[in-house]
Amino acid sequence: MIHNGSHVAAPSVAVAYHSGFGHTATLAEAVAAGATDAGAHVTMISVDNMADGHWDVLDGADAIIFGSATYMGNVSAAFQAFAEQTGRRCMNGTWRDKVAAGFTNSGGKSGDKLNTLMSLAVFAAQHHMHWVSLGLSAGWNTSTSTEDDLNRLGFFLGAGAQTNVDANPDQVHPSDVRTCRHLGHRVALVTRQFNLGRAASSPAASSAPAR
Ligand SMILES: Cc1cc2nc3c(=O)[nH]c(=O)nc-3n(C[C@H](O)[C@H](O)[C@H](O)COP(=O)(O)O)c2cc1C
Repeated sequence: MIHNGSHVAAPSVAVAYHSGFGHTATLAEAVAAGATDAGAHVTMISVDNMADGHWDVLDGADAIIFGSATYMGNVSAAFQAFAEQTGRRCMNGTWRDKVAAGFTNSGGKSGDKLNTLMSLAVFAAQHHMHWVSLGLSAGWNTSTSTEDDLNRLGFFLGAGAQTNVDANPDQVHPSDVRTCRHLGHRVALVTRQFNLGRAASSPAASSAPAR
């Protein structure tokens, strides 16, 4: 049988993020816009202010893109509180084989935010999710390139952004916004490919360990 993908629903993508001062929220909107552009159904979830039904959205999503401001060189306390609420889901494998990715934002140009992306990736791995990298070469790394390049800060594990601590949320760097938009787009495409692959393979196939 030839599968042309028409029988597979648009991927559902949740963007689960924490932003104390609005900068990471601006990036979350860009991630969501990129995923929407790629045909996904997207739900944005501010993890310190979850509405009724948001856990169901997360449990039903094909992909979850995690985002956190970098505080003290790691995810924020609010994001970690959210992560710790997922312990039973982790034990039960509720999010197993969903697609995952991540983004963060810091005040420093580096700000130790690679550690935040690593925490998000480990969190996804604990849930047996499939981590999607940023998929961009490093920008702004030659004498002729500029800070307006995509991926201007040169991250690979996820999207890394930098916003001056005295900036307003609408002053997040346009390159970082476009980089996050790219991430959302990429995750939606990869998730669609996963869904097509699953639809084309045995419905009984599962990566869960045999017991
Ligand atoms: C408690 C706290 C800790 C922070 N720690 C870091 C840090 O480790 N590295 C850094 O570069 N910026 C740090 N910052 C700055 C924030 O990352 C920066 O202001 C960011 O834009 C905030 O994002 P938000 O508006 O989404 O909360 C910290 C800010 C706060 C409030």
